[in-house]
Amino acid sequence: MDKVVIHGGNRLAGQIKISGAKNAALPIFAATLLAPGVFEISDVPDLKDIRTISKLLEEFGAKVGKVGSSSYRIDSENVNHHEASYDLVKTMRASCLALGPLLARLGRAKVSLPGGCAIGERPIDQHLKGLQALGADVRLEHGYVDLRVNGRLTGSRVTLDIVTVTGVMNIMMAATLAEGRTVIENAAGEPEVVALADMLNSMGAEINGAGSSVITIDGVEELRSTSVRIIPDRIEAGTFMVASAITGGDVKVIGVVPEHGATLLEKLRDCGCRVTESENSIRVEGPDNIAPVNVTTSPFPGFPTDMQAQFMALMTLAGGASVITETIFENRFMHIGELRRMGADIKVSGNTAVVRGVAGLSGAELMATDLRASASLILAGLAANGRTSVSRVYHLDRGYEHIESKLAAIGADIRRERAT
Ligand code: EPZ
Repeated sequence: MDKVVIHGGNRLAGQIKISGAKNAALPIFAATLLAPGVFEISDVPDLKDIRTISKLLEEFGAKVGKVGSSSYRIDSENVNHHEASYDLVKTMRASCLALGPLLARLGRAKVSLPGGCAIGERPIDQHLKGLQALGADVRLEHGYVDLRVNGRLTGSRVTLDIVTVTGVMNIMMAATLAEGRTVIENAAGEPEVVALADMLNSMGAEINGAGSSVITIDGVEELRSTSVRIIPDRIEAGTFMVASAITGGDVKVIGVVPEHGATLLEKLRDCGCRVTESENSIRVEGPDNIAPVNVTTSPFPGFPTDMQAQFMALMTLAGGASVITETIFENRFMHIGELRRMGADIKVSGNTAVVRGVAGLSGAELMATDLRASASLILAGLAANGRTSVSRVYHLDRGYEHIESKLAAIGADIRRERAT
């Protein structure tokens, strides 16, 4: 297994072009199942999960081709298979995003239940609650969720018990072809939900309210293919902004939507960074002394859970104590054990971590456990004294496009060592 090796201490400087958002691309690829035709999708990040969902679409009968370095052509004319193989689904829980579109188009969808993952149990009960409200017959057997409906789905009011990003996406996609109106209450308002709604509306759907907690979908008889550009990845951008902060650097991320990261920018300013925004770029100048800042994760527009581990790495070097509370996932502190091995002072009580800043971190041999934890360890290594290696970087490759080359281009001493 590959690992990433870093010699810390370099101050990062320069600019980084941000790639398309993984968490926008995955639902947008799934949405192509809703309508026959050819879809052109651009600004797609070069990630393992994109290759996985491409294989999944092909299992359903679609033809998927990469055009150039970041565009895809998806022909969903012959989508006629409703079952996803366990071997594929087990590698990517976002495969559950096929449930809503397949059910709406074919009247049937069978996908193996996503097991838990490192950060939590992550059930899909809310997805199924919504799809059942639209008329699906839901069966759970042999580790599969098997959905079917005779004829069209029927619009309904769905009040979600939990704010769930992919849950609202699944229900919204299914509702576009239902008979009548669907109203989803307590809906997630993430930018990726809005991006999906924009794509569905360009396919002929009638969706209003995406981005707010109440989304209304008036079902239509059929949808058509479209062309889509994927929005920039606010979490990749946030990760590089923290890289600038933790190294006392001066980094500009370009091709971003500043308002997608407003809460993070506020926290970066609170810890002493100088943050300069323009229409599609953000410049972050790291402070000489990092001030401690408290963070509690919450659904958009709150502080994103996907930035919690990265921000905690920054707080390990603050001049004081900060309190970081994780409210979205029940086990998203696995980076803490490895940060401690670098000399960080972190005490955990339930879903709250108290981080007492230390004068410096020391490089160490580390092991990644999940996508954002591995990013956190990379960031700590950039600031640590000496050599850090992070193994199991396949976690990193799921969500970051060539992260080591992007960091090396702005001054990091970082390289990937291929497993022998
Ligand atoms: C999406 O996951 C993202 N993934 C996650 O990003 C992100 O952390 C998460 O939203 C929260 O913002 C994709 O978009 C592919 P949820 P999702 O449903 O939709 C519970 C990354 O690092 N829940 O919003 O799976 C769930 O267990 C990844 O890029 C239920 O209980 O997350 C969690 O505690 C990690 N029942 C909370 O809700 C359900 O039916 C939020 O989960 C659904 C969710």
